[in-house]
Amino acid sequence: MIDIHSHILPNIDDGSASAEQSLQQLKQAEELGVSKIYLTSHYFRGHYQYTRGEYDEKLNNLREQAQTAGLQIEIESGFEVFIQPGIQEDIQEHSLTMGDSRYVLIESELNGLPTDFYANVYPLLRAGYKPILAHAERYVSIMHKPSKARDLVDKNVYIQSNAGAFLGFYGEKVRQTAWTLLENGWTHFLASDDHVKGEYGALVEASKLIGKRIDDHTADLLTRDHPARISNGEAIKYSYVIVKRPRNHRKKSIMRRLFG
Ligand SMILES: [Fe+2]
Repeated sequence: MIDIHSHILPNIDDGSASAEQSLQQLKQAEELGVSKIYLTSHYFRGHYQYTRGEYDEKLNNLREQAQTAGLQIEIESGFEVFIQPGIQEDIQEHSLTMGDSRYVLIESELNGLPTDFYANVYPLLRAGYKPILAHAERYVSIMHKPSKARDLVDKNVYIQSNAGAFLGFYGEKVRQTAWTLLENGWTHFLASDDHVKGEYGALVEASKLIGKRIDDHTADLLTRDHPARISNGEAIKYSYVIVKRPRNHRKKSIMRRLFG
């Protein structure tokens, strides 16, 4: 598995607070079958703000420490960029992408995507970036109306769900929303969003659950195939599954009334 969303890089955001914690998480992930992790530290103007040089220094240090500790797991650069007006300048200036790819992990206000959310994402698309919305199931506006996720997919935004969401870590509504998005084929990635709280067990468990409830192919797409495409700089289909939606009952009954 490849994990595209984690907060394992120490002392940069609300994730790991020490190199020891980070190494422990990497070790746990490796033991559970994760071969590569993107260390997607929060980047939030005014809150978690840093230069690319500062990030890279921490990343290189952790890489060396992981090697010294005998870990095989690959660690790759990444960011979870909070969408704000003008954020494209920071993304360009600091290369806030996933590794060397054009994929960018983005986030917004959990209490509801702001009305100007897409207006601030659109310039990224225009510039050739490929935005991925982190933990889409956790946004209140998407919980109320899951088809808002489809609207974003239709506008070329990828969707990532947190493994813990499928297991009820964030409550019942988030759990249901995660399944709704997935069952409609709107979810492209399953990731840990690890904040050094043992989320790797959840990644394995959620992947198994998806295999059981949907199929193994889907579980593999979300945890292996699609993430590998980021690593290889390849395209990912926005729509990868055909979902048969129930026909409009009201329309049907009117037709029945008219024509029997
Ligand atoms: Fe995150």
